[in-house]
Amino acid sequence: MQADIRDTRAVLAGAAATLDFDQPVALMMLGVLNHIVDDHQARQLVADLLAGLAPGSYLVISHTCDATTDELDGQAMRRAVQEVMDRGGTPIRARSPEQIQELFSGADLLEPGVVSCSRWRPAPSPWPVSYRMYPSCQDGGAGSSRSWAGESGPHPDQPAGFGTGGGLVQQ
Ligand SMILES: C[S@@+](CC[C@H](N)C(=O)[O-])C[C@H]1O[C@@H](n2cnc3c(N)ncnc32)[C@H](O)[C@@H]1O
Repeated sequence: MQADIRDTRAVLAGAAATLDFDQPVALMMLGVLNHIVDDHQARQLVADLLAGLAPGSYLVISHTCDATTDELDGQAMRRAVQEVMDRGGTPIRARSPEQIQELFSGADLLEPGVVSCSRWRPAPSPWPVSYRMYPSCQDGGAGSSRSWAGESGPHPDQPAGFGTGGGLVQQ
């Protein structure tokens, strides 16, 4: 389906055509909340989408980040984002890890919290590579909230992984 993510009713209604919202789903917002530049609007639309999900559901966010780390030059990222804005591209905003964490608005963040996507539960590799070979300009995290995770609460052994694409998924 195609919809503007700011129209949360349309997103939920469209997804309900193929998903059973009486069952848990993973809400995966990958690289899209960085296009909602207003903090309040970004937090509100996450809250509105979560309100439509069943207990046991998960929230996954990856987001353009402007923290300076051993992987990323935050100042260069801010310059790049400004250039995109100056050229009239899709509005974009880089946020700090703390600001990205605020988008989880009350969810219980699964370990290791909001970190570079390359460091979020990296799978053991048969090859002698490290995260440094896959630097990421996105930070991300996964969360579950008792308010929509049911009595059992979050399930730390059931990670919601990162990937390309985004939306609501159900297995
Ligand atoms: C950085 S790409 C991420 C694509 C994909 N989710 C991924 O992780 O590889 C951002 C995507 O968000 C989409 N997008 C931007 N603003 C949007 C909005 N208001 N509603 C829905 N999608 C939007 C863009 O069209 C683009 O496909």
